[in-house]
Amino acid sequence: MKLGIDAGGTLIKIAYIEEESGSIRFRTFSSSHIEAAADWILKCGPSEICVTGGKAKQLEACGVRPQTGIVEFEATHRGVRYLLQEKGVPLESFILTNVGTGTSIHYLSEQTHRRVGGTGVGGGTIMGLSYALTGLTDFDELVQLAANGSREQIDLKVRHIYEGAEPPIPGELTASNFGRLSSLAAMGELTKSDLLSSVIGLVGETVATTSVLAAGQVGAGTVVFIGSSFIRNELLKDAVEGYTRLRGATPMFLENGEYCGATGALLQLGG
Ligand SMILES: Nc1ncnc2c1ncn2[C@@H]1O[C@H](COP(=O)(O)OP(=O)(O)OP(=O)(O)O)[C@@H](O)[C@H]1O
Ligand SMILES: [Mg+2]
Repeated sequence: MKLGIDAGGTLIKIAYIEEESGSIRFRTFSSSHIEAAADWILKCGPSEICVTGGKAKQLEACGVRPQTGIVEFEATHRGVRYLLQEKGVPLESFILTNVGTGTSIHYLSEQTHRRVGGTGVGGGTIMGLSYALTGLTDFDELVQLAANGSREQIDLKVRHIYEGAEPPIPGELTASNFGRLSSLAAMGELTKSDLLSSVIGLVGETVATTSVLAAGQVGAGTVVFIGSSFIRNELLKDAVEGYTRLRGATPMFLENGEYCGATGALLQLGG
């Protein structure tokens, strides 16, 4: 069995072809328990391994011996093209935004691909700010709680500033993420859900806005969003989708998009 591995800052993603069915399968491990990933890989007895991602060397230190490596962005590009083709979506040129621990933004066209920017606001920001504000550390738990929260008391909207007057831009736009919090602190009625929902709003709006600006720069109309930050995270998807559309671009979420890097690494091995 051949394994394509994307050892990221937070999660290790693995892609392989299941022998019985011949179809592609995926596994995820935490980068903070890298030995568990190494154990699983070694037990598989793989014939060939290709690794990408920032934690590749740590994985090797745990006894995993890859035959080859691939640069992370190259792997992501190959993986995304493959998954788009599988889905039957022939996109020629588009912006690709990978919301991983951090956020990385790329331009892909038929001829070229290049990294056009990024932001340190990403999935790691969801984890870090959520912990600072609520003490929660479990991604699934905080994402579930966030779904029931309200941003009304925390985020300052344009309509809050204009207070009944006609604003020059849509009143529902966020004027300042967390911008209402200080003046309302005395009310003290904020729940963990409200805070978590605002954290996800901050990250979603930032990655969407940055991506749309990048799309404008290169003349692309579609932004494909990938990365584990979107896993079971409808709230983040909604925030990203809403802001991307509002700013005139078309958002797309790719099923199994978090495995683009691992898939690209597997393809490097010839399937
Ligand atoms: N089980 C999980 N444990 C921790 N974080 C998770 C989990 N599931 C989803 N996430 C979210 O996904 C993010 C990591 O996304 P991803 O796996 O794409 O990044 P990465 O590849 O590890 O990082 P990078 O590419 O920046 O090195 C986390 O920051 C968190 O917001
Ligand atoms: Mg990654």
